[in-house]
Amino acid sequence: MPTKIEKDEYTGKETTGHEWDGIKELDTPLPRWWLNVWFVCIAFAAVYAVLYPSIPLGTTYWKGILGWSSSQAVAKSVAQMNARHAAFMKRIGELPIMQVAADPKLKEVALEAGRIAFAENCQPCHGPAGVGREGYPPLDTNFWLWGGTLPDIQRIIEYGIRSGDPKAHQSQMPAFGHDGILKPAQVTTVAHYVATLFGIEKPGPTTAAGYKLFQDNCAACHGPKGQGNQSVGAPPLASRVHLYGDTLAAIEYQINTPRGGVMPAWHTRLDAGTINSLAIYVHALGGGE
Ligand code: HEC
Ligand code: HEC
Repeated sequence: MPTKIEKDEYTGKETTGHEWDGIKELDTPLPRWWLNVWFVCIAFAAVYAVLYPSIPLGTTYWKGILGWSSSQAVAKSVAQMNARHAAFMKRIGELPIMQVAADPKLKEVALEAGRIAFAENCQPCHGPAGVGREGYPPLDTNFWLWGGTLPDIQRIIEYGIRSGDPKAHQSQMPAFGHDGILKPAQVTTVAHYVATLFGIEKPGPTTAAGYKLFQDNCAACHGPKGQGNQSVGAPPLASRVHLYGDTLAAIEYQINTPRGGVMPAWHTRLDAGTINSLAIYVHALGGGE
């Protein structure tokens, strides 16, 4: 039915000709600005749909003429981050370790890389953050069997201790009891003497004989006062911190059958950047010299 255009008598505007129960609808067009925004949105959507992945097509989809995909974008930024990290690690591995430690930016990266590599490779033996346990020296105190400077630590991580690597630290305490170098009574006597050195026993009737045995058999490595010697990895004995426990039984056990703890070499498994990072991390744990 054709509608008749008429003017509304109050506003003077045209009506659409629609009428419900005497109520008529004014012909008020959408505001121009609103329409413009709407057209821009439609145009934007059309251009977007052509450029970017947008329309499902059965089992595949329209990939857009730019070929962009969110998973590729993530992969790209990860690759960029890895490349930056690799460049840092390469420099950390190439520079002398003292130079790495002196560069605040490189040191920061090394500390973080070292922390992660330590948790993965070293924690099973040395404990979380290097607290140590029986047979595995703490790395967070100034109790150093072999020395606590950065180059000392770096060398040990590279080549290990009694690891079989030709450049590893090798020294071995003789099995005085087991190999019959000392008689059982002499082992006991010298063990009691060692116990007086760090104060779990008071000097007694055998102390003088123990002192003599100690000077003859042990002082060459452990020092005349049992102060230890880092050039042969002989722990200080006149100290409460002990690798194998501070009881008389532990001392006797070691004199009979020394353990000769093994620390693996890592230069065959870890790159130079990671090894230097580990050394810097260990050095910063609390005992670094
Ligand atoms: C299989 C066990 C084991 C693992 C794994 C291990 N260590 Fe050791 N580490 C030892 C033992 C045992 C010693 C002590 C050897 C000795 O008696 O001299 C040692 C000694 C050391 C020392 C010398 C400490 C001192 O007092 O002079 C450093 C430094 C060290 N380890 C660092 C590391 C780092 C860093 C890692 C990881 C890359 C690591 N270790 C992994 C067993 C291990
Ligand atoms: C050739 C050098 C050497 C000689 C000689 C030697 N030691 Fe040792 N001693 C070591 C080394 C190296 C260690 C630690 C390595 C290991 O066995 O794991 C050690 C460890 C010890 C320990 C354990 C320390 C701890 O922290 O738990 C005791 C105790 C000890 N020696 C006592 C003696 C006594 C006593 C003698 C003499 C009868 C002696 N040693 C002679 C090299 C020596």
